[in-house]
Amino acid sequence: MNLEDLSLINTFFVVIWIMGPAYLANAIAVLTGGKFPIDQKKTLADGNRILGDGKTWSGLAGGTIGGIGVGFMLNSESGNSFLRKITGANFEEGLWGETPIIVFFLLAFGALLGDMCASFYKRRQNLQRGEEFPILDMFDFIFMSLFLCLLFQMSWLKTWILDGWIPIVTIVLITPILHRGVNILGYKIGIKNEPW
Ligand code: CTP
Ligand code: MG
Repeated sequence: MNLEDLSLINTFFVVIWIMGPAYLANAIAVLTGGKFPIDQKKTLADGNRILGDGKTWSGLAGGTIGGIGVGFMLNSESGNSFLRKITGANFEEGLWGETPIIVFFLLAFGALLGDMCASFYKRRQNLQRGEEFPILDMFDFIFMSLFLCLLFQMSWLKTWILDGWIPIVTIVLITPILHRGVNILGYKIGIKNEPW
């Protein structure tokens, strides 16, 4: 069975499931973050911080390890049976290829790296930590996750994400919604400073 055998709505669900480690890595970084700024509080010639206090080693490490952990949960026996129950999907091969841990790492670390690159760019635009930069904030992380997979797990990416247009269109449509949703939730329960 592969993605083409599923209905559109179930394909949506499976694509979100596959990208789960990337989607949750940033949320976990909010929980573990705040300690040891990666830029060591240094500024560049423009007078702004390299990255700012919102990018810390504790967030990077926690988000990466947490995202990998999410991957193992999704890929577990109970994860698989949940997915089967919801979508009826029954994939003989694993959703994350032959070496899932590598894909989990690329998805999770890529999400944080993309977020860091965006912070670097935001600081160069004189935007302070936490200031909003709509499109960039929403897509930076997923772009870098996919880009790292393109570089290092090309055949996996081709099988699951670059197979027809549906997975990519799903990601483009769903990512801003999930990103905003998770951040509003984090803001409401008091672990995030801004709802974006
Ligand atoms: N975080 C962290 N380290 C990371 C990523 C996130 O410590 N590598 C934590 C920080 O506490 C940060 C919070 O998660 O404040 C929210 O992340 P994000 O919205 O990406 O950072 P901002 O504070 O908004 O900073 P920026 O303007 O640079 O995006
Ligand atoms: Mg932010």
